[in-house]
Amino acid sequence: MTNINREYLNISKEERASLKNQKATVIWFTGLSGSGKSTLATKLDKYLFELGYHTYVLDGDNIRSGINKELTFSSKDRTENIRRISEISKLFIDAGLIVICSSISPYTKDREAAKNRVGADNFIEIYLSTPIEVCELRDVKGLYAKARNGEIKNLTGIDAPYEKPSNPFIELNTAEVNTHDSIQRIMNKIEYKIKR
Ligand code: ADX
Repeated sequence: MTNINREYLNISKEERASLKNQKATVIWFTGLSGSGKSTLATKLDKYLFELGYHTYVLDGDNIRSGINKELTFSSKDRTENIRRISEISKLFIDAGLIVICSSISPYTKDREAAKNRVGADNFIEIYLSTPIEVCELRDVKGLYAKARNGEIKNLTGIDAPYEKPSNPFIELNTAEVNTHDSIQRIMNKIEYKIKR
């Protein structure tokens, strides 16, 4: 960082969050494509919104359609994808918001870096451990079929790695727990972390 002087703001993250009557937090969903990340992220967003929380969702596909448009699915670009998402999350929690991220985020080192960037106290990791067989059967986006017939390469879980979190705050298998119950389980575990 040469010739850059950071400007320090007069209002702290805590003050901004306090005005919103909440604690600024990043809720980070990780798991395979089709594991239920976007579904749970958007449902949780709505649920929290209706309770009066100030939230925002950073969804992998949406982010990759905009700010991360030029990134591929190489390991280097996935790392850059997660770095940018975590930097954006950091800005959002500085603004006092609850940020819900949903990206495959397949590498442990990238998720760790995201956690360290926003601060471990502000970071809740939710691992969707839905087995690949179930994700492939769902195949909502048709990507597994394309990977099997060679149309696409580097699909996570098929010919690109997914490193499971070793100590997630919450682990859920959406093949066994329905959406409603998943939201209840998440709420039971996170409410004290987001409530002021
Ligand atoms: S990440 O690995 O860099 O975290 P991210 O969550 O942003 O991935 O994007 C994944 C989304 O991109 C998937 O939901 C899927 O719709 C789409 N996609 C397209 N090609 C691939 C691929 N080769 N591997 C994984 N996801 C892919």
